[in-house]
Amino acid sequence: MIKIIFPEWHNSGILTKWGWRAWVFLYFMVSGSCCLVTVHQPPVITAALGHDVTMPCQLSLSPDETLLTVPVLYWVSISQDAEEHRLWKPSGIYEGRVQLLDENPNSLNKSILLQNVQWADNRKYKCKLSINTEKAKGFRSKGNETLLTVYDAMTFNLAAPNDSLLHCEINVTREPGFVLSIDHNGHKTQSVDSAPGVPVVARPYVTLSETISLRGGGKYECQLHLNKDLITKSILHLLLPGVVEYPEPWLLYAALLLVPVTFLLVLVPVLLCRC
Ligand SMILES: *[C@@H]1O[C@H](CO)[C@@H](O)[C@H](O)[C@H]1NC(C)=O
Ligand SMILES: *[C@@H]1O[C@H](CO)[C@@H](O)[C@H](O)[C@H]1NC(C)=O
Ligand SMILES: *[C@@H]1O[C@H](CO)[C@@H](O)[C@H](O)[C@H]1NC(C)=O
Repeated sequence: MIKIIFPEWHNSGILTKWGWRAWVFLYFMVSGSCCLVTVHQPPVITAALGHDVTMPCQLSLSPDETLLTVPVLYWVSISQDAEEHRLWKPSGIYEGRVQLLDENPNSLNKSILLQNVQWADNRKYKCKLSINTEKAKGFRSKGNETLLTVYDAMTFNLAAPNDSLLHCEINVTREPGFVLSIDHNGHKTQSVDSAPGVPVVARPYVTLSETISLRGGGKYECQLHLNKDLITKSILHLLLPGVVEYPEPWLLYAALLLVPVTFLLVLVPVLLCRC
């Protein structure tokens, strides 16, 4: 079995849809020797508070291996007290919030949809399967853990008492990889005040904030990154008094260009006729 390592994916937080599929595909292509059964799940996924999130899990079989019975799926969450909670079939805090995305029991896609994501869902999750195959017989296979990180809505506006300041704020779960930044017309800005998200014991989240002083009109963009991935952003277009930006006067340019052309087309033949 050849082992492939993708450093950029290990460092980055969420896997893009393409990246995830390609990864499963490559792993399957490269590792397919004899009787290999693997369960794939991404290392980190990010969800917006109150929204739904897909938690991917894919079973791969090498071409020479065949399932004898329908695999039995267990999705479990691991909390800090190391106690396991069942997501599939859903029980406890997950009851009524989890759906299997591909309901065909023979499908190898065991991804689930977790609905109405809460701060308390910020945990590690494991996809486990009870499998019975022709060569390897009955056994259990599990994926590597997926960490679910959560973020709330972003607020981005002029800082109330002082209109020369712009303030961006967001609540996120305690992942050191979360970074907040503000761009002006595509350029990085220097913050006058930023809070790196100091944990408050009673809270399941930290507050990241960033304040900059205005540098004229234009497009300001506040972005939340997890490692290298853009997670969410908010955009403000500011038209400041005194810094009105006119659009390029193309009509005027065209009109000016028409003058010599008209002169050539009309006057020159007239002058030539006279001679
Ligand atoms: C799970 O993680 C281990 C150690 O990081 C790695 O060697 C292995 O390839 C991973 N397995 C899958 C299916 O991703
Ligand atoms: C598994 O199914 C879900 C829902 O249909 C889909 O979004 C996801 O891309 C599938 N996974 C793979 C690896 O194809
Ligand atoms: C607003 O902020 C700017 C830049 O930090 C500062 O120079 C100015 O004194 C502040 N104005 C008020 C009214 O606080």
